Amino acid sequence: MGAAATSPSAGSYAGRRCGVTGAGGALGRALLGCLLDEGAHPVALRHGPEELCLDRPDGSRHPVETVAWAVGQEEALASLLASLDVLVINHGINRLGARDADALRQSLEVNTLSALRLFELMLALPPRPGQPREVWVNTSEAEVSPAFSPLYEISKRTLGELVSLRSLDADGGCTVRRLVLGPFRSDLNPYGVMRADGVARAVLRQAAAGRRLVIVTPNPLTWLLMPAVETARQLYYRAVTRRRDR
Ligand SMILES: NC(=O)c1ccc[n+]([C@@H]2O[C@H](COP(=O)([O-])OP(=O)(O)OC[C@H]3O[C@@H](n4cnc5c(N)ncnc54)[C@H](OP(=O)(O)O)[C@@H]3O)[C@@H](O)[C@H]2O)c1
Repeated sequence: MGAAATSPSAGSYAGRRCGVTGAGGALGRALLGCLLDEGAHPVALRHGPEELCLDRPDGSRHPVETVAWAVGQEEALASLLASLDVLVINHGINRLGARDADALRQSLEVNTLSALRLFELMLALPPRPGQPREVWVNTSEAEVSPAFSPLYEISKRTLGELVSLRSLDADGGCTVRRLVLGPFRSDLNPYGVMRADGVARAVLRQAAAGRRLVIVTPNPLTWLLMPAVETARQLYYRAVTRRRDR
């Protein structure tokens, strides 16, 4: 299948239960707000106990169903994940300027391994006839271009490569979408040129149109490189690996 193929189940997320990790961050809040606007039931997954309230355009505050989790305890989310139609794996850290062993361990644990464990839990759920579940993985355009933060690039690129490999076994049971985003303003990237709200709206639009590779960036190189890299990875991984029953 082509990297940016459309799916027949494309459509709006109205009425669907959509969980987002890193919910308290700039993009997490923006995605949850857009999902709410679409009529979805948003679920915030946060690595702290604090319940999430979204600031709405009319000035009101909307409390969101919030579930606490911690990196390393992904298994504890199994029953919550089974209740979701869509999981957006969005949490992340950027240890800008660091190269010490502790920053390396943290970057791999948060950006790569915990995301991968959640991804595997979603893939392992029994298929649902009619409306497949979806898992969206937010890597970054740092998969294919410099983000001036080597640990961030390495941890996100590794996540992207492993998602490309493991998606080969996703079949029709779970639709995998990859979010490849350029710089937007947030705690993680105070210098971002885009705004999280606009990025979230573009992500929702592309996902609803059925795109598997969701790209939002002003950088033309990402638009050229990412689909090529993803297609090459899929061809290579298919050629040299075989499926094994779980
Ligand atoms: N900003 C950019 O330019 C950019 C570009 C491309 C991709 N991205 C990706 O987009 C995603 C969201 O980033 P953002 O810019 O919105 O950043 P952000 O505002 O810093 O949000 C990241 C969120 O991740 C969660 N988090 C942080 N440390 C964690 C930990 N140790 N364990 C579990 N969760 C943790 C926190 O949410 P809770 O407190 O709610 O758990 C935090 O608010 C990230 O994966 C990032 O890599 C960002």
